[in-house]
Amino acid sequence: MIPQDFVDQLLSRVDIVDVVDRHVPLKKGGQNYLACCPFHKEKSPSFTVSPTKQFYHCFGCGAHGSAIGFVMEYQGLGFVDAVRLLAEGVGMTVPEASRVDQAASRAARERQMTLEDALQRAAVYYKQQLKGAPNAIRYFKERGVSGEIAARFGLGYAPGEWQNLETVFESYDDGRLVESGLVIVNDEGRRYDRFRDRVMFPIRNQRGAIIGFGGRVLGKGEPKYLNSPETPLFEKGRELYGLYEARQAIREKNRVLVVEGYMDVVALSQFGIGYAVATLGTATTGEHVRKLMRHADDVYFCFDGDAPGQKAAWRALENSLPQLADGKALHFLFLPEEHDPDSFVRAEGADAFEARLEADSLPLSAYFTRELTRRVDMTSPEGRADLIRQAKPLLAQIAAPVLGFIIKKRLAELAGIEVDEFDMLVGNAKPERKGKREYRVPQESNRQFTTSLIRKQIKWLLMNPSWACDVQLPDSLTLSDELACFAMLAERATEHATEPTPAQLVECARGTPFEGLVDSILQQAMQDPEEFASPDEAAREQFRDGNARLLQLLRNVELERLKFKSRGERLTPEESQLLRELLTRPADG
Ligand code: UTP
Ligand code: MN
Repeated sequence: MIPQDFVDQLLSRVDIVDVVDRHVPLKKGGQNYLACCPFHKEKSPSFTVSPTKQFYHCFGCGAHGSAIGFVMEYQGLGFVDAVRLLAEGVGMTVPEASRVDQAASRAARERQMTLEDALQRAAVYYKQQLKGAPNAIRYFKERGVSGEIAARFGLGYAPGEWQNLETVFESYDDGRLVESGLVIVNDEGRRYDRFRDRVMFPIRNQRGAIIGFGGRVLGKGEPKYLNSPETPLFEKGRELYGLYEARQAIREKNRVLVVEGYMDVVALSQFGIGYAVATLGTATTGEHVRKLMRHADDVYFCFDGDAPGQKAAWRALENSLPQLADGKALHFLFLPEEHDPDSFVRAEGADAFEARLEADSLPLSAYFTRELTRRVDMTSPEGRADLIRQAKPLLAQIAAPVLGFIIKKRLAELAGIEVDEFDMLVGNAKPERKGKREYRVPQESNRQFTTSLIRKQIKWLLMNPSWACDVQLPDSLTLSDELACFAMLAERATEHATEPTPAQLVECARGTPFEGLVDSILQQAMQDPEEFASPDEAAREQFRDGNARLLQLLRNVELERLKFKSRGERLTPEESQLLRELLTRPADG
């Protein structure tokens, strides 16, 4: 872990204009600097760097972030490595944790390097072998895989011998070969290659390093696909096949498509649909979804039309619920039963595939309600009661307040009841939060209004950290997630020794539960070029007004809640005190 203080100091030392300019020459344009975006193809510059805000943002593809974010994206580095690199540039040394940790992390790094090395060498070997393997070449030809696309994905061939890799490494007994999953040791201690007589699909991580392989039999045979085992480099629940190759296309389209198979990704890419990735023979995990939502606003799942495909889709939905964020959309496309994306795109072409994706895919909300209503008998009251029972635990997991509400409303309609009744029947559908800052608003519409107001206030604050002194949120009021985020940011900004730049404030949220929220607000905000201009007094007035309105709203909500509660049960002494205060305060206070 790198201390937040260090990150903060680093950001006050580096200038994002220098950092970007080193890789992407910038031109001055008004207050800001401009260039053609390095993250997507474009002819006229929409990539903007603000020296005052210390942010970059592309109006074309939406890429944005601080100097740290830029280095992460541009160089494909993780947070820690990006910080290290920037620190070196300005002569700062990243404080190390303890010596033990240091040694352990060095050992881990070295192990990683060597495993990566082994896999890289194997990949080069498999690729070379493909050139001299007529059977494998014929197999790819018959499946319509072009040479160009084979090169793009680094496809290869593992010959049929038991110990092919003996010729590749100095010592076939090297433990790294086993640890990387390339070689298997049997009970008698005999070593042999995991992959034999298979066409090979190298799997890369986000940096492009090879972390594993999938190998397919040529023709029939079991298992059809053999995959690398989980290793220190390769965690199936996190990695996605094709993500590295798809990055550019995902960014250009602001969408990503999740399919089931290696061949689906390869075929789609060959036909010009470059934004597909595949899970690795495992269910789609929450981690997968989170990763995908970081790359694009629209995530499409396209599973095979058969029964396992249906099951996989529902699993994906279940695991997505806790990751949902308003502003991001998930869609589910079901192909005709006889097809998978590979066969479909070959039979019908890319345009037909994309047309289907756009016209026939179900938004998550529709798929959610469709599946649930299919499981019960909607014609009987018992069936409709069952619907509500089944929906309850799922709704409780939905992390996006607006979407969650819309789905709930729709289910209530289908069950023939009011939303309020729905809430009563299932209890409060929001996941229980720990700690005293619990917040329940009786009326959902109110809640949505409040949420959008808070988001706006957060946006102002992020863009103008010096305005934090205008924020006053009494502790007595309970805080929702958005509000807690607003309060946290305001606190950080006021505590800061100097006036923080927007980039410094944004980096405060990294690694906290508010990271996603801040990022989505920022993403939205920066679509408006005005945000890059310096705000005037009128804007500040609006911010102050917003705060006053927010405070009033919160008081009203709290007042309603306490009044409501006092009708049914006793208030605690603190609650009674608060109620008295709220009742005596002037309405516009
Ligand atoms: P499918 O059986 O749907 O195969 O497996 P596919 O992708 O259509 O393959 P082709 O077109 O026959 O070549 C989908 C995915 O499930 C995993 C693989 O990741 C595969 O791409 N899988 C499948 C395995 O890991 N092992 C298997 O034996 C089969
Ligand atoms: Mn297939």
